[in-house]
Amino acid sequence: MPVIIGALRESAPRETRVSLVPEVAGKLIRAGAQVLMERGAGEGARFPDSLYQGVQWADAAGVLGQARVLLAVQPLDLERIGLLKSGAVLIGFLQPYARREEVRALKERGVTSFAMELVPRISRAQSMDALSSQASIAGYKAVLIAANHLQKFLPMLTTAAGTIRPAHVLVIGAGVAGLQAIATAKRLGAVVEAYDVRGATREQVKSLGAKFVETGVSAEGSGGYARELTEEEKRKQQEVLDARIAAADAVITTAAVPGRPAPKIILRAALERMRPGSVIVDIGAEQGGNCELTRAGETVTYREVEVVGPVNLPAQLAYNASEMYARNLLNFLTPALKEGELAIDWSDEVFAQSCLTHAGEIRHEPTRKAIEG
Ligand code: NAI
Repeated sequence: MPVIIGALRESAPRETRVSLVPEVAGKLIRAGAQVLMERGAGEGARFPDSLYQGVQWADAAGVLGQARVLLAVQPLDLERIGLLKSGAVLIGFLQPYARREEVRALKERGVTSFAMELVPRISRAQSMDALSSQASIAGYKAVLIAANHLQKFLPMLTTAAGTIRPAHVLVIGAGVAGLQAIATAKRLGAVVEAYDVRGATREQVKSLGAKFVETGVSAEGSGGYARELTEEEKRKQQEVLDARIAAADAVITTAAVPGRPAPKIILRAALERMRPGSVIVDIGAEQGGNCELTRAGETVTYREVEVVGPVNLPAQLAYNASEMYARNLLNFLTPALKEGELAIDWSDEVFAQSCLTHAGEIRHEPTRKAIEG
């Protein structure tokens, strides 16, 4: 029997992405699987049902009741978890730290779930790295949002009406989202500076044509991530950064430390030095924000400076976001598909480490501790 791979129309508010795009559905079918989708699943991302060749259609309950493997973007709600077929495999962004009720329900229902957030960041798994693919979209979109808020051009223009000076963009945090923000602002012609506490980013920033802001603080943590700063380091960083923030027309903040709230880097005092009409786009808004005034999902105006706290930016570029995400899922799932059937190799660290629940247990240790003590 070929494995039935299902995908639903996402039910979370304002989620426009879809976990399966026509190209990937076709590849799964050619690999011997059967694909079953909820009608209209791709519409929010501009993939009408007619583009999906060879796919079978049902309503949500039909997909949940028949799919052996369910591909999702957002965590399933409790009601949908309750409708999953027994022995089902769920793969998606499952937000293990935030969605405890759902994790418990997955465990109790005996669902084998894999959280895309937990895929190890090793070279072999780069093509499955959905956090990165979606973060680069957020970095791109953040610059467009900043450009929309500014009453200025980003590029320098030489016109019959005289020369227009380019806008200055400062990017704080040069990880995946930050590097894409730098590249995007450069392509649009802005003068770009960037800052990160990891010295390893210096060359990456420079290779994109931006200037690296030196604060004298270096905070490499484990696994290629940053660690939290000490009070002394924060003060040192603040002094240099506040001056660069004051000089910028647009600041894009993307600084993050895994498992911690977003570090507060832009305080009210720094905002007070910014020119009227300047803008901050803080993409870490949902993690508490890098700016003291950020509110997730809102734009706050303080002394004529706008602080934008966008949430779910990938859903604003749903077509490409879904394409990239669906390919990440395909690359994750392919090693487990053998002649159209499902065979998970538990000795593979990618499956072992990204597994959230299996056989009635929470397999991801930090989540298990957080939920079960
Ligand atoms: P990442 O981990 O690749 O990059 C974060 C960077 O911040 C790292 O390079 C780190 O060294 C740096 N950093 C940490 N502390 C710092 C400090 N005190 N000063 C300067 N730099 C510091 O993370 P990624 O994937 O780029 O995501 C960035 C943020 O964007 C995360 O908070 C993520 O949750 C958020 N995000 C938001 C989205 C949205 O729709 N709003 C979508 C995707 C990601």
